[in-house]
Amino acid sequence: MTTATQPAPAIRVQGIEKSFKDLQVLKGVDFDVKAGSIFALLGSNGAGKTTLVRILSTLLKADAGTATVHGFDVAAKPNDVRESISLTGQFAAVDEVLTGRENLVLVAKLRHLKNPGAIADDLLAMFGLTEAGGRRAATYSGGMRRRLDISMSLIGDPPVIFLDEPTTGLDPQARIEVWQTVKQLAKGGTTVLLTTQYLDEAEQLADRIAILHEGRIIQNGTLAELKQLLPAAKVEYVEKQPSLEDVFLTLVGHTGEAATDDADTTRASGSASAGKELR
Ligand SMILES: Nc1ncnc2c1ncn2[C@@H]1O[C@H](COP(=O)(O)OP(=O)(O)OP(=O)(O)O)[C@@H](O)[C@H]1O
Ligand SMILES: [Mg+2]
Repeated sequence: MTTATQPAPAIRVQGIEKSFKDLQVLKGVDFDVKAGSIFALLGSNGAGKTTLVRILSTLLKADAGTATVHGFDVAAKPNDVRESISLTGQFAAVDEVLTGRENLVLVAKLRHLKNPGAIADDLLAMFGLTEAGGRRAATYSGGMRRRLDISMSLIGDPPVIFLDEPTTGLDPQARIEVWQTVKQLAKGGTTVLLTTQYLDEAEQLADRIAILHEGRIIQNGTLAELKQLLPAAKVEYVEKQPSLEDVFLTLVGHTGEAATDDADTTRASGSASAGKELR
């Protein structure tokens, strides 16, 4: 399917199936992820998002179908896949007894990299953790821990990273920090596949969004394409009702770029989102 003008996708998933005993979780999942893009896999609890990520990161074998990551088949070339990826799981892999910096140095050493100290310092700086770097990770807030976790997964510059629910359990500010981190990664050319249950997370971050439901991808498109699935847009004038998140972020004095999404002009809107529009 690839042509000379179109580079091979960073991730290709074709007909993946997986059951646990009688429970058929994945019933034939297909999608491609373009290199250097952010792809969000949306689905409710138990939809099979983590199962798919575990298959793509070679931790679990599929029952049927094929998948390639960075050009390597996950079943035939698991070692090559592992060298091309990092996985940040749903539950943070940070060692709480170690400091942030020690966590990073440890991973760099495990990956046999030169200058682990310098690598750790660069990542601490990139993620705004320089000051906290000498403190035990046990003392970090949830957002700091997440950022440390993601920074640990970047050691060795893997071209493809999997983030399984990167912001579950974080407060709104910490979520925005993680979003900015993920955007930075993609700008640097890393391919990001993230799973989330949050529609706004996919909306903020993803170049493409796929919805996993009852074992299959039921929609896959850009945000604009997905919005077109709703009835035609109409202009509505509604009084501004700040969301609780707006109130929270204003009260805590946050001015991050992701929070400035709401324009103060009236926008054409589908009926489903009309309540969030302002005048
Ligand atoms: N090792 C396993 N053995 C048996 N059942 C499993 C196993 N792993 C996952 N499942 C089941 O497969 C289904 C999909 O689980 P999965 O963790 O992939 O969902 P998810 O989309 O990641 O959900 P969440 O949003 O809660 O993280 C669930 O019903 C789960 O109980
Ligand atoms: Mg999961």
